[in-house]
Amino acid sequence: MTLDDHRSAAARLIDLDRRHQIHPYVEFDRLPVEDNLPIVAGSGARLVDAHGRTYIDAVGGMWCTQVGLGRDEMADAIADQVRRLAYANPFADMTNEPSTLLAAKLAELAPGDLNHVLFTTGGSTAVDAAYRLVQFYQHVRGTPEKRHVISRVDAYHGSTFATISIGGKPDDRVEYFDYLTDTVHHLSSPNFYRFGDGRSEQEFADALVAEFDAKVAELGADRVGAFFAEPIMGSGGVIMPPADYLRRIWERCRELDIVYVSDEVVTGFGRLGEWFASESIFGITPDIITTAKGLTSGYLPLGAAIVSDRLFDVIAEPGHERYLSLGYTYSGHPVSCAAALKNIEIIEREGLLERVREIGPYFIEQLRTLADLPMVGEVRGSHLMACVVFVRDQATKALYDESFDVGHRVANACEPKGVLVRPMVHLNVMSPPLVITRDEIDQVVAALREAIIEVRADLDALT
Ligand SMILES: Cc1ncc(COP(=O)(O)O)c(C=O)c1O
Repeated sequence: MTLDDHRSAAARLIDLDRRHQIHPYVEFDRLPVEDNLPIVAGSGARLVDAHGRTYIDAVGGMWCTQVGLGRDEMADAIADQVRRLAYANPFADMTNEPSTLLAAKLAELAPGDLNHVLFTTGGSTAVDAAYRLVQFYQHVRGTPEKRHVISRVDAYHGSTFATISIGGKPDDRVEYFDYLTDTVHHLSSPNFYRFGDGRSEQEFADALVAEFDAKVAELGADRVGAFFAEPIMGSGGVIMPPADYLRRIWERCRELDIVYVSDEVVTGFGRLGEWFASESIFGITPDIITTAKGLTSGYLPLGAAIVSDRLFDVIAEPGHERYLSLGYTYSGHPVSCAAALKNIEIIEREGLLERVREIGPYFIEQLRTLADLPMVGEVRGSHLMACVVFVRDQATKALYDESFDVGHRVANACEPKGVLVRPMVHLNVMSPPLVITRDEIDQVVAALREAIIEVRADLDALT
């Protein structure tokens, strides 16, 4: 294609999109001033836009393109399954081969006694299903009053009514939507950088655990059904759990008979160099793990709630005469499950978990070199999950006014340098494909450095 062809194809896409597509999380005020970026192709960690420009996708789609895009093997597995059986559901007494094989594989990969899998359509529906599985479990065992759940400020658990309510990102709590409020309770954000207030990390962790204890005491342990937590908060801004805090809360949950739901929609499938991070990194064996995203490397939509024997044995006990009214047309979709099986095979065969354990620390180390820039407040993360926090003043940690949209400015400045990062108000998050190379990491860090310097200069001129 000539440059002119590219230009007119891109212009047509942008125009059609503007007129017809409603974008998730769109800011309507931006529509008249900013064009959407039309992506038309992808391979490995790279994306190509309709203008023919190439980018390193440091965001990994949406924390999800683990094995990288454009794999023939994935296309073949998907096409083969479409030809063999494009649709069959596992409702009630039916099943299909890929969903059965995938459930067994997930039981093998998940920690502890997590051996039972309920498939959903994505991460939100996985957490939504976990929420309802907890209610079902509490009813079946005769403790229906355990209907309160505890979550945290800055958590993100999805975009359904229940999961956005369990989530606690301040920007997602808007006055024009309703939320479940009577039974969902939020503890403080575990963001040590922002809320540590001069305490040691251990003191901060102690305070968070004490807050959990106080909340359970206030509600009564006999009324608390579950605790929901991401091992590392993702969309809240890659917030690492301080010291031993999560493990101690998990121990409390065990003692107090509270179901621990570990939301590994982001942290699973190699992002931290493990299939699941809960047990191997944080020493937690949850009652339920929710997963999605990297499960298929984003090739097709799929999510799952993986449930322990301990819970399953109760809910599946014959005689209680309740049926599980929970499921989706696309639960256990054979093509999505076939994609997940192939994806897992690739991760195993190519040793991608080991690769992340090796290249992940390099990624974080290189990003940390940005800390000398006055606008960088903190670089945090683990392995291929990271974030850069922007501040007006490093010493006081003061932020720019939200109207300056600093995260967006840096992301926009990275774009012409061929790098995509994800803006979130005062920060940029990154979660590149597990196949990103050292050279690509160097390019991401170099582009970020230049972009941050440019944006700082612009902001200095404005303020
Ligand atoms: C931790 C976590 N849980 C759940 C979800 C929701 O997943 P989905 O967007 O696939 O519905 C997300 C999405 O980013 C997530 O980060």
